Amino acid sequence: MFGGGHKKFRVKVTTGKAKGAGTNATINIKLIDHEGSVSESHVLDKWLHNDFEYGKIDSYTIYVEKNFGQCEHIILHRDEVGLNDSWYVEHVTVEHETEADAHFPLSRWLPANTEMQFKKFDSQLPQVVKKEHPEVYQQRQNELDQKKKDFAYAPIANKEGMPRTVTSLPPEETFHRNYIFDLLETKFTGVISQYLKKMRYEDEFASFDDMYKVYYGPLSPFTVPAGHSGWRTDEKFARLRLTGPNCTVIRGVKKDGGLPTNFPVDKDNLAKHFMEGQSFQQAQDADRLFYIDFKDLDGYIAKSSGKPMVAPLALFYARMDGTLIPLAIQLFQKNADNNPIFYPPPIDDEKVWCHAKFWFGVADSNYHEPVTHLLQTHLVAGDFITCFHHMISPSHPVYKLMLPHFIYLLNINTDGMPVLTADDGAFNKILTFGLENCYDLMHKKYKTFELKNAYLKTDKEIRGVENLPNYHYMEDSEAIFEAIENYITSTIKTIYGDGDKNLEDDFEMQNFAKLLCDKTDGMRGVWGDGAFTKLDDLSKTLSTMVFILSNVHAAANFNQYDEYGYPPNLPFRLDGAPPTDKSPVTEDFLVKLFDVNVTLETLDLGRTLSLQGTNKIGIYETHYEFKPEIFQHYLNFIQALEKVSDENDAKNAKRSYPYIWLSPKIVPNSISI
Ligand SMILES: [Fe+2]
Repeated sequence: MFGGGHKKFRVKVTTGKAKGAGTNATINIKLIDHEGSVSESHVLDKWLHNDFEYGKIDSYTIYVEKNFGQCEHIILHRDEVGLNDSWYVEHVTVEHETEADAHFPLSRWLPANTEMQFKKFDSQLPQVVKKEHPEVYQQRQNELDQKKKDFAYAPIANKEGMPRTVTSLPPEETFHRNYIFDLLETKFTGVISQYLKKMRYEDEFASFDDMYKVYYGPLSPFTVPAGHSGWRTDEKFARLRLTGPNCTVIRGVKKDGGLPTNFPVDKDNLAKHFMEGQSFQQAQDADRLFYIDFKDLDGYIAKSSGKPMVAPLALFYARMDGTLIPLAIQLFQKNADNNPIFYPPPIDDEKVWCHAKFWFGVADSNYHEPVTHLLQTHLVAGDFITCFHHMISPSHPVYKLMLPHFIYLLNINTDGMPVLTADDGAFNKILTFGLENCYDLMHKKYKTFELKNAYLKTDKEIRGVENLPNYHYMEDSEAIFEAIENYITSTIKTIYGDGDKNLEDDFEMQNFAKLLCDKTDGMRGVWGDGAFTKLDDLSKTLSTMVFILSNVHAAANFNQYDEYGYPPNLPFRLDGAPPTDKSPVTEDFLVKLFDVNVTLETLDLGRTLSLQGTNKIGIYETHYEFKPEIFQHYLNFIQALEKVSDENDAKNAKRSYPYIWLSPKIVPNSISI
């Protein structure tokens, strides 16, 4: 149609994978060059081709005036045709054979009958746009006004004082189609396990070995979970506290100035049998004693039994060879004749001790799911992301930085949470604690939650675990945290320049800080407490959130099948009641604590929750930032993660018990399960 007298551009358009992303509307584009010349409008349409379908890339050739310069802006327009006309545009690239590609990472719904103008990279601070392009700023403001409606929020379960979440899920937050397919496939095993039950068991397990039948045979969807190995040993029991799903509650006795006074262990007897020639005090001074106190569970009535919920304390000792071993367990808070302290052999009998360890495990798992897993990763992140979408424009450079780490979180919190929190979900059906107690505990714990304490160095210091040997969770977390923090900090510096002033002037970011830390229903302990006045405060906040979304959740989530999949290793629920004395128990008594139905349901749950279906950290599903000076930080991040990954392999090769869950080969960008 045009000859050599015109300039030829190729326009590549990616339609997103949001629900309803594809459109039947007509899309027009205009280009604007670096001197402000505006091209005529071009319809993007190919003859006999269904343009702008879900997840598809369409390319178009357009011709503009021959003296048109480099493409700096585009103007997009879509009309209104009724049904299926909404359009979620992910990316537009304008290419010319002798010029650098102009990227427009848009990732938004294009409103009907409105000309929308975007600058190359679509990544600018609001104060700059407001000053330089007031009309484009108005468009940005309108979009944010719409997002406030789309991301309307309420506290979880409408319970005041809980983290906030969206009242309905915006379509751009939904799982992509292939991810839903993976989820459905996993859920299918639930049906199979019912067959298994009918085929292989009567009402009870005959022995601990009898439980293995569930993993074998042609119909079994289950593999033998790694946690079965050595489950009865004290070393494995202690190792669960270092690398199990709930590995962030152990604390140093020295740091806390001694054991809680309601846990009066027999110090001399313990020293005599276990402390390698030291007195108890010497072991404490040498920072070899650690403990866990589940006092938060005190006072609840367990739903499954109608009896008081176990709320135990446990003491651990780090041997000279670096092995951690448990030394004492008290199952309830108040020491009394009917609440004795249990000790390992040779002080107490092995089966009596095993019984106490089982009940400690019940507290560990029943605390892990609502608090460590759901509240401290899923829900805290959900609150943050909901507020973020309210106040930060898709054109904001920090939006571009953070969005890859928010993928699917709101969807899993909206549609996936019922797996745990429905009336027939895991909190009621598998946990002994019960749904109502879980909510009450989460509510209580969120009141004292402070984001600052999730900053890894602070967490390590507060819990006094600097000298805890073989704490692979901490060792591996440190490497990933460093990579994340370097990436975020360097990117933030590039975005805002050297001074804090630019950040103070960023009213979108300040509005976000205010909403996030709202005095009535906001998050506590965020750096800056409602105003980001220092780049360092913002960097720490964002780094910690990415760390929670990736690393902290990975540690709490992905080994669930391996550790819960053989319930004697870490039970959710036991029949009977916690022991009130040290009367002998038989092997058969211990076996009968495990219910067949609960065990099979636990396997199903563990398998579903351990599913890995999204990209690993740094490998983004969608790229939002293309500015070369920021993209370089991203490339450095990838390189740093590769190094962490190699170092992790080397560490695991030397470890007696490898810990794979915090390798960048496993840790995802975000929470999607
Ligand atoms: Fe999860």
